[in-house]
Amino acid sequence: MAALEHPGSAVGSQSDKAESGGERGPVTLSDGAVVLRPWKSSDAAFMVEASREPAIERYNGTAPASEADAVAVIERIQESWRAFEVEGHPTGTAFVIVDAALDEPVGMCGVDHWSSTDVAQFGYWLAAGARGRGIATRAATLMTGWLFELGAARVFLTIETDNAPSVAVARRVGFTCEGTLRAFGVWQGQRRDVDVFAVLPDEWPLGGDH
Ligand SMILES: CC(C)(COP(=O)(O)OP(=O)(O)OC[C@H]1O[C@@H](n2cnc3c(N)ncnc32)[C@H](O)[C@@H]1OP(=O)(O)O)[C@@H](O)C(=O)NCCC(=O)NCCS
Repeated sequence: MAALEHPGSAVGSQSDKAESGGERGPVTLSDGAVVLRPWKSSDAAFMVEASREPAIERYNGTAPASEADAVAVIERIQESWRAFEVEGHPTGTAFVIVDAALDEPVGMCGVDHWSSTDVAQFGYWLAAGARGRGIATRAATLMTGWLFELGAARVFLTIETDNAPSVAVARRVGFTCEGTLRAFGVWQGQRRDVDVFAVLPDEWPLGGDH
């Protein structure tokens, strides 16, 4: 595992009820510098503007074509939050990454899948203007800590091998590269290699008593 920097712990998590198996409410996570909060329909303009960026469209998928499409995406995310509140599995839930100092949305961090064997996969993107300050590293750290709080047995990321900034985020957070899925992805008709990065609960520096 690479040398790691852990910028903070999940102070302010409102997910305690989930851990104890009781009724769950909306989740907000923060380390003081970065806040992860659920998406609201008023974030639609930000989603459209920020995600219409070549690197985000390449690695995270096509941006919503309009504000109305973004509202529909946010409504699906909100449905996933309601399902999480009932069932406890966060597949499809997603947070807005907020720069706490500016109180402005700067990115997205979402749970792609939670399996029947408690394996969680998530992804992220940052608006171009918010990069280079450690915000994605903080967001991914908060997300990973929350998934372990929920009982994940394994948390993983899939990252195209040539996506150096995202590989660097995974390594800084504490994920280990387990190998390369050769020719797993496709981009503009070309097969691409994809790396699998994972972390287990007993490797998680913020796990244990936190
Ligand atoms: C992947 C992505 C989120 C990474 O963003 P990023 O800004 O490079 O990552 P961070 O916010 O963690 O910032 C890291 C940078 O800030 C610097 N930094 C400054 N303060 C820091 C701190 N406290 N902690 C960590 N890094 C810090 C790091 O040195 C690094 O700089 P470098 O790129 O010059 O080495 C961004 O490139 C992106 O959105 N790309 C397009 C979509 C995408 O690839 N999504 C992932 C799909 S798998």
